This record gives sequence, C-alpha cells and structure tokens, in this order.
Amino acid sequence: MPKLASQIAPQRSTQYAQLASQLAAPELQLSPLGSHIQHVEPTPLGGQEYLLLDLDQPLDDALLHELGTLAMTSAHFEFFDRLGDVEGPLLRPLTPSFQPTLPPDIVTARRYKGKTNEMLTQFMLNIARHSSAFAHRPWDTLRLYDPLAGGGTTLFTGLMLGMEVAGSDEDRQAIDGTAQFLQQYGKEQRIGINVRTESLKNIGKRWWIDIKQGGTVQRCLLSRADVGDGAQALHGFKKPHLIVTDLPYGIQHNGELISLLKNALPVWEGLLDEGGALAFSWDATRFPREDMIAQVETISGLRVLDEAPYNTLTHQVDRVIKRRDVIVALRNESPN
Ligand SMILES: C[S@@+](CC[C@H](N)C(=O)[O-])C[C@H]1O[C@@H](n2cnc3c(N)ncnc32)[C@H](O)[C@@H]1O
Repeated sequence: MPKLASQIAPQRSTQYAQLASQLAAPELQLSPLGSHIQHVEPTPLGGQEYLLLDLDQPLDDALLHELGTLAMTSAHFEFFDRLGDVEGPLLRPLTPSFQPTLPPDIVTARRYKGKTNEMLTQFMLNIARHSSAFAHRPWDTLRLYDPLAGGGTTLFTGLMLGMEVAGSDEDRQAIDGTAQFLQQYGKEQRIGINVRTESLKNIGKRWWIDIKQGGTVQRCLLSRADVGDGAQALHGFKKPHLIVTDLPYGIQHNGELISLLKNALPVWEGLLDEGGALAFSWDATRFPREDMIAQVETISGLRVLDEAPYNTLTHQVDRVIKRRDVIVALRNESPN
C-alpha cells in the first residue's frame, strides 16, 4: 500500500501550530485525495510533525497537483519503511505541480487588526471547493464572494489561487484600503492593474480592478455594502461558485449574530451558483455548532454538511475565543 508523509505546516507560534495540526487531517480528508486515504496517523519525523497516510493507489498527476494548494500541510513525501537493505523511515520528496497565479505574499504582506488567519482562509476555500459541485474544476474557472471582506484576506487568497473575486463590507475604509493595497501591490510587483470606479445608487462607489498577467485577466470587484445589499454589491459579477467568509467577532449577544444571519443567508443563497458552497467561520464559544446549524437550515434552504470530518473543525484561537468553528453548506443543484 503506498504511503504518503505530509508535513504539517511549521509555525512559529504555538497557537498557529495547534491550528495546523488540528485541521491538517480534515483538509486532506476533504480534498480529492480523501477518497483514497485508508488511514491517517500523526507521526513525528526528524523532530517535525507529519501525517502518515495509507493510500489505496499511488498519487496520479491530478492528485499531486492538488497537494500544492493545501493550507495546513506544506511538504509531501513518499514514505518507505525500508528500501531493500536500507532501514527506514525514508522519504522521497514530491513536487506538486500547482503554481499560484499571484505571489503568496499578496495574502501575508498586510498586517492589521481583525485580519483573519491566512491559513484558515485558504483551508475554508479548499474545503468549500472540494465540497461543492465544482470540486474538479480548476481554480481559475471559479468565482468567489466574501460578503464580510474587511481587508481582503479571502479575496487575496482567491486571487492567489487564480479565481475571480468579489468582496463587500459595510466598512468603507476597509474596502477602499483593500483597493488601494491591491493597486500598490501591483505597482511593486510590476503586475498590470486596471482600475475603474463607478457609483451605484444605495451603495455608492464600487471598484472594478483587473489584474493582467500574460494573456490572462483576473477580476476583483469591491463594494461597500451591508450584507443585506449583497445582490446590489455584486451587480454585473456572474454568480459566485463559492462564498467564503469570517463572521464578525466580539459580538456580545447571540441575537446580534442571528439578525446578521437573517439578513445575510437568504441573500447568499440567492447569489450562489447552483451546486455552489458557502463556508464560514465564527466564534462558537457562546454560539455552539448545533445552534448555528439550526439557524442556517431554518433561515435558508442551504444544507449544512455535518458528517465527519466536517464536525471536527472546532479549534481554540486564544483565551477569549476558546472555540472557533467552520460550517460548510451547499446550495443544491436543481433536479433537472
Ligand atoms: C472578521 S471581519 C473579516 C475580516 C477579513 N476576513 C479580513 O481578513 O480582513 C468581519 C467583517 O464584517 C464586517 N461587517 C460586520 N457587520 C456587517 C454587515 N452587517 N454588513 C457588512 N459587513 C459587516 C466588518 O466590518 C468586518 O470587516
């Protein structure tokens, strides 16, 4: 049986190291590799944390490609207990063929208060895509919407992977700052950026930003809008395949979060392409998973995925956010 050793992405802080080691196995299980994994075992190798995976087949090119997009594992090796007379463990490095469309530092370059962890963001994009009807479509054919976009971590991760992206947020400064950063980043990296702004009734100024590399153009639309105005915010942008977002933290009463969900979920459901997926994270310390699932399924027709490993994604962030959780919900394809 072929064995794969996947190195859990090394982190400087204990907090992020825990995040990576907790979510690495679910991410692999929910990836296209998942159906080939017979067994997963955490194993230290050379003082580093690895997952040892028993596979039912050797990796083909498509699976090898996917390994390059994973967030929680950073290097992958064929694993041998021994080779001929040579006692193991022995590792043969694998080179995933996936190449990011934009340099990964587009996601990490900016630091600001309230930024969503970059690894968690890429993890949510991965599990949303793999759970959707578009699991086998290349990233550069997919569209993403983040309706609580803040400083744009989700959007930049989507762009890095090759997607077309749209984001909105009620905070005008966050939206304008994101647009300005993208222009500045393009200048520094000598990437062609075309910007067009327009003004819409109710919403005000919107930014259409085209990122040009070689013969390809990636589009990023940014609007200031309340979650309830998502349809206006996205006017002129084709239906997103994925909606990925990080709900606001520091909310004192569950009622506030429920009212945000009541405004947002019907809009998100209407915007998602058929077969599309919604993934979001939230502070589950005082708003447990069962309650969130009940809210999503009462307010919208979206179907929450809650079988293992979807129900194992809860993790501690810090002393205040003792539990953060992630939900993936699907907009079903119509039967005909
Ligand atoms: C956790 S932050 C998202 C951070 C973002 N992922 C990043 O890394 O910058 C949540 C965002 O929700 C926005 N927000 C809160 N309530 C909103 C509402 N009703 N409509 C639109 N945006 C809202 C806040 O302005 C904040 O930027």
